[in-house]
Amino acid sequence: MENKKTGNPLIGIFDSGVGGLSVLRQIRAQLPSYPVIYLADQAHVPYGQRPLEEVRQFSISITRFLLEQGARLIVVACNTASAAALKHLRETFTEIPFVGMEPAVKPAAEQTHSGIVGVLATPATFQGALYASVVERFARGVTILQDTCPGLVSEIEKGNLQGEETRAILTRALHPMLARGADTIVMGCTHYPFVIPLIEEIIHAYAGHPVRVIDPAPAVARQVGRVLAAYGLTSDGENTASPRFLTSGDRRTFKHMLRLLMNDTEAARVEQVRWGNQQLILEKP
Ligand code: DGL
Repeated sequence: MENKKTGNPLIGIFDSGVGGLSVLRQIRAQLPSYPVIYLADQAHVPYGQRPLEEVRQFSISITRFLLEQGARLIVVACNTASAAALKHLRETFTEIPFVGMEPAVKPAAEQTHSGIVGVLATPATFQGALYASVVERFARGVTILQDTCPGLVSEIEKGNLQGEETRAILTRALHPMLARGADTIVMGCTHYPFVIPLIEEIIHAYAGHPVRVIDPAPAVARQVGRVLAAYGLTSDGENTASPRFLTSGDRRTFKHMLRLLMNDTEAARVEQVRWGNQQLILEKP
């Protein structure tokens, strides 16, 4: 099934919540002719403290659902779900191209001058084999400092991008990294780019040296473009369809967050999905 208006291949994107919107906005900017469907599994957010096996099961069911809706390529716009499930998804849905997230340790290791890099990600991301493998491959000779920023995903889900609690969590994570000389900070969770202005403020107030903050979303969107081309999933003409947004959580809250995070440019309808028997079911409007 393809997008009815243009026939252009549909890109499916998912995350535990609003984090993947940081990836969606880059995909929309770089690949405007492709229609997209975005699913936020807010019934289960945050994913970061859950066992990898559980997140893997969610990811498989969400992928199946997005394919039923006509998606031709799946973007796992969540570091935690990528850590838990990317390999398994590729083995399960062998015909389908996937693009996932991995903490941007490689560019960080290439760009650091001090040789000290900070990574902010969820506990599950740090536990996964994917993270161990990027550190092993790319971070030789570089000191990596990690922080799980407890509670940050929930604050961002509440739209608290500047408040006291968010500031306290980030200060607790960043000050020790900066004190040890970190000059590069990696956003290893797709929620975190939404607090980059606050991160930069905290860095500016504390560090006596320049610090680079890496959001991998632009590079991920470029990778989506390359994979689409490699699979012959080309688009012709313009896409006039607005993105489809779906949540397994509260529709109103998600709509409010779309307005807040996407500057109302995507003033879309939000569709409801529900979990039943470990499957996602689309509710009729
Ligand atoms: N946005 C996600 C990530 O990139 C998930 C955060 C969470 O649900 O804990 O890891």
